[in-house]
Amino acid sequence: MTAAGAITRLRGRIEGSLMGFLAPDASRIPSPLREAMEYSLMAGGKRVRPVLLLCAGLAVGGEEGELLPFACAVEYIHTYSLIHDDLPAMDDDDFRRGKPTSHKVFGEGTAILAGDALLTEAFRVMAQSPLAQADPGKAVRAIADLACAAGASGMVGGQQMDLSAAPGNSTASLVDEIELRKTAALIASSARTGAILGGGSPVQIEALGEYGTRLGLLFQVTDDILDETGSFEEMGKGIAKDRARGKWTYPVARGMQAAIERAAELGRETLAAVSTFGPEAEPLRELVRMVQDRRK
Ligand code: IPE
Ligand code: IPE
Ligand code: MG
Ligand code: MG
Ligand code: MG
Repeated sequence: MTAAGAITRLRGRIEGSLMGFLAPDASRIPSPLREAMEYSLMAGGKRVRPVLLLCAGLAVGGEEGELLPFACAVEYIHTYSLIHDDLPAMDDDDFRRGKPTSHKVFGEGTAILAGDALLTEAFRVMAQSPLAQADPGKAVRAIADLACAAGASGMVGGQQMDLSAAPGNSTASLVDEIELRKTAALIASSARTGAILGGGSPVQIEALGEYGTRLGLLFQVTDDILDETGSFEEMGKGIAKDRARGKWTYPVARGMQAAIERAAELGRETLAAVSTFGPEAEPLRELVRMVQDRRK
């Protein structure tokens, strides 16, 4: 199977598992909370983070079924972050994944709760996974890694910096710091967690963490570029909003040409981080190409 084919297969496996892990007894989740959770989770999405967790885990010899609950948990955390990112008090966006945003459909209160629920369920699913029963030490290490990446000094901290950044006067190094936290931290942790759970050596875990950090920065710079050059139809969300809102993005701070060069440099650095791996890392290399070439 080609690397692209392997990624497509893994994405299908994730799509088919997302609802199942979420609520063994879904009838206990009151309406409209249950509908709101499912609405955002199953609206599509590229599934980059869970695919990455699986590819990293498989590259070091992990077992797909054992990794799957953790991969879905990462997608719950990511989906919660998008629901909250779109709220009127944050980016105030009307479309996500090609559909009206959660608060537009369910109201702000339920959208906030759907995010809260997805975040919390992520940690339940990981703690109750078969791998956590079989090897609690490994699972706790992975869960702690994800908690740090998603938490106050990671993704949530990055969202605070994004929110606090006053229009104008942005510098490339501060943009880097924001993007490192709000986006790259969770992407890096997805790769590192896959490597931890898959039984990787310390050297492999370190290399895949570095790969994830570079890929995460590449991912957000590309998102910033696509905000200016992409289409609503392909992106499934509003575009041309960052500059008007005074957001600190790489193209705003340094210009479009510098952003494109930065993306190319990050692509090379990401690939270099897995240069010591063999064919088992081909899907990870393909993911870099996909992020570089993405139009959505
Ligand atoms: C959007 O993430 C938020 C950013 C960090 C740029 P994705 O582009 O991965 O969104 P989905 O999951 O495919 O909708
Ligand atoms: C979002 O960054 C990062 C998150 C942690 C959700 P953006 O605000 O640039 O993401 P989009 O463009 O709304 O998807
Ligand atoms: Mg935002
Ligand atoms: Mg946003
Ligand atoms: Mg954006």
